[in-house]
Amino acid sequence: MIEPRPSISGGARLAGVIGWPISHSRSPRLHGYWLARYNLDAAYVPMEVHPDDLADALAVLPKLGFRGVNVTVPHKESAMALVDRVDDTARRIGAVNTIVIDAAGRRLGLNTDAFGFMANLRDQAPLWRPDGGPAVVVGAGGAARAVVVGLLDAGAEVRIINRTRTRADALARDLGTPHITVHDWEDRNAALRGAALVVNTTTLGMAGQPALDLDLAPLPGTAVVADIVYTPLWTPLLKAARARHLATVDGLGMLIHQARPGFAAWFGREPEVDKAVRDYLVRDLEDGG
Ligand code: ATR
Repeated sequence: MIEPRPSISGGARLAGVIGWPISHSRSPRLHGYWLARYNLDAAYVPMEVHPDDLADALAVLPKLGFRGVNVTVPHKESAMALVDRVDDTARRIGAVNTIVIDAAGRRLGLNTDAFGFMANLRDQAPLWRPDGGPAVVVGAGGAARAVVVGLLDAGAEVRIINRTRTRADALARDLGTPHITVHDWEDRNAALRGAALVVNTTTLGMAGQPALDLDLAPLPGTAVVADIVYTPLWTPLLKAARARHLATVDGLGMLIHQARPGFAAWFGREPEVDKAVRDYLVRDLEDGG
């Protein structure tokens, strides 16, 4: 149980999340949970900032004493040009989701989604190996870019399938590596042959969206099936994988793991990812936030 705690002091560390709109964001709940659990003198606040005001908002954060922020939809790409430095991973993904402000007020742009995806994959599917077979990534949007970068950096071969082939080709070209192949949407079932991992990075399977139409039969029995959708936690894709006794990785873990680097940098403590925080977020999702 979380004990009631004293309110923040004048010396509290400040961070938050900037988006537009912002009310859907789970990040205040997640960071707030960890702050309460570790009884830290700190606050993490939601900030609704219109795209026209993003440059002003990011410029003023160091002057307000913020340690940093998360950046979410629709600002992840535009934030890249508005920080003082962008790290290599964020540049390859083409988006910033975490900003860390140093003592001199310089804003460093990071992208922790690749880290979050990989940390969760290793957590929930410890038997997965990057050299166990190709990883099939479904989708070619911003989320796919992060997942592909994570997988490539781990040493995996990546097959991309996307409804709009040109977007998948652009992703492969941008990353400039021979370790990606692009397959036609019509051939998506065949692309699963011999794969060690399949990841859905599209919005298909989300509540209110159609399911991803993918036949898992060609997958080896040792394959892992991952979804980055977490509403619902058990997407139709993950249920189909479970019915075939394949290992599954859900999207909630990625949400939690991607938050770790920001929390550690701003608040000075590495937060734990365990059943307690997962259960808290599942309850929160069920309550509608
Ligand atoms: P994000 O940045 O969150 O990844 P996005 O850039 O809008 O979001 O990408 C959404 C992904 O879901 C894309 O790969 C998109 O495919 P297209 O590039 O063809 O648009 C995919 N997607 C969304 N709806 C889809 C559908 N009904 N069928 C197939 N793919 C779909």
